[in-house]
Amino acid sequence: MKVLVIGAGAREHALSWRIAASPRVSKVFCAPGNPGIAEVAELLPIAPTAIKELLQAVIDNGIDLTVVGPEVALEAGVVDLFEANGKVIVGPTKAAALLESSKAFAKEIMLEAGVPTASHHVFSECRALERHCAEVGAPLVLKADGLAAGKGVFVIERAADFPAAIEALFGALRAERVVVEEFLSGVEVSCIFASNGTELIPLAPAHDYKRLCDNDLGPNTGGMGSVCPSPRIDEQELAWIQEHCANPILRVMRARGAPFKGFLYAGMMVPAGLEGRPDGIRVLEYNTRLGDPECQAILVRLESDPIELFEWMAGVRAERPKLVWRKQVSTCVVIASDGYPEQPVKGGQITGLELAALVPGAVVFHAATTLDARGNLVSNGGRTLTIVGLGADSDSARSAAYKAVDLVQLRGRRVRRDIGIGA
Ligand code: AMP
Ligand code: GLY
Repeated sequence: MKVLVIGAGAREHALSWRIAASPRVSKVFCAPGNPGIAEVAELLPIAPTAIKELLQAVIDNGIDLTVVGPEVALEAGVVDLFEANGKVIVGPTKAAALLESSKAFAKEIMLEAGVPTASHHVFSECRALERHCAEVGAPLVLKADGLAAGKGVFVIERAADFPAAIEALFGALRAERVVVEEFLSGVEVSCIFASNGTELIPLAPAHDYKRLCDNDLGPNTGGMGSVCPSPRIDEQELAWIQEHCANPILRVMRARGAPFKGFLYAGMMVPAGLEGRPDGIRVLEYNTRLGDPECQAILVRLESDPIELFEWMAGVRAERPKLVWRKQVSTCVVIASDGYPEQPVKGGQITGLELAALVPGAVVFHAATTLDARGNLVSNGGRTLTIVGLGADSDSARSAAYKAVDLVQLRGRRVRRDIGIGA
């Protein structure tokens, strides 16, 4: 069969790479993809939001199944359009993707479903928000309601930082509504579930490293690395999360006439010292897609055929697939460009990838890369590459990943050195 992956990052490289390895797949397409993805897929120069062109490409190329990477394509309604035209696609409709594209909607659904989460208020007016922040005081978390590519969340630890955050939210970010949440402490885990609309299959849990610098210092980013499986939760806790934080969401979405198909990513906060009492775990947010860089760490461990899973999720296969995971663990390290996340420098030449790819246990995935006029591989944005190491334990997975990372050159690059330590 022929499969299309929508997107252009390292998540989509990992998807294309894993799908290409399926014995059932004769050809992979990726729109728009990147030079790394071009090694395993034919690239179609179509943006993830150009959904009519995507549909036409599926028709023209006889593509049987489409997998959506980024949330912008979901918000643009790619799943609605494809399904209306009888095309098989993995992902939620626009109405179901509101769980990610509107934080206020997600909170409403969580309340209705009885899901444990931080308490919250919604404001659409600057003065009222200022008054609330002054009354309650720090710490508080302020979030723009809509999609903001990871830039819409402000964790405020000192009251002096409220004015700048409020200014950014109603100013540069043009938020129409701001969700203010109780601050939760603990460690985060990404619990991703595959859904066919009525049932869930948990993927191996992962966690990512959101801060730019070692020891979780510096600004928040889209994620500087990840590990899978995450040692921060055990099987019993994952089952508790599925029962209390994922199944109820499926139920409420179905009752509202917007069944959730696709990847439901529950971003969880796990407080310290749970000691077998998972009821302290809270949902921070839902994403309606695979996480990046969690996806890369998860997919290298997936032994079973992903096509069976995708067909089940898209509703064209009744039999529930059984996912088999490699015993090996994975560590994924992001190489970001100079200036990331504030002002990533584009155009820096990247070398050493051929050697990195030869490191045993290492897999290189391209994120923001492109070819310059002379055909050199250069960075084209913030997170430029991700390198996954697989190993018998976290030390050997880390060692494979960093051995490969150290063979890659990109001037001024930003890399965390502590991904997977203790994981
Ligand atoms: P979100 O996009 O809602 O997941 O927020 C991005 C990041 O902000 C999360 O991964 C957390 O690190 C942090 N964050 C979000 N909500 C809270 C909260 N209620 N308490 C503490 N940290 C939070
Ligand atoms: N790594 C976090 C995300 O994909 O949203």
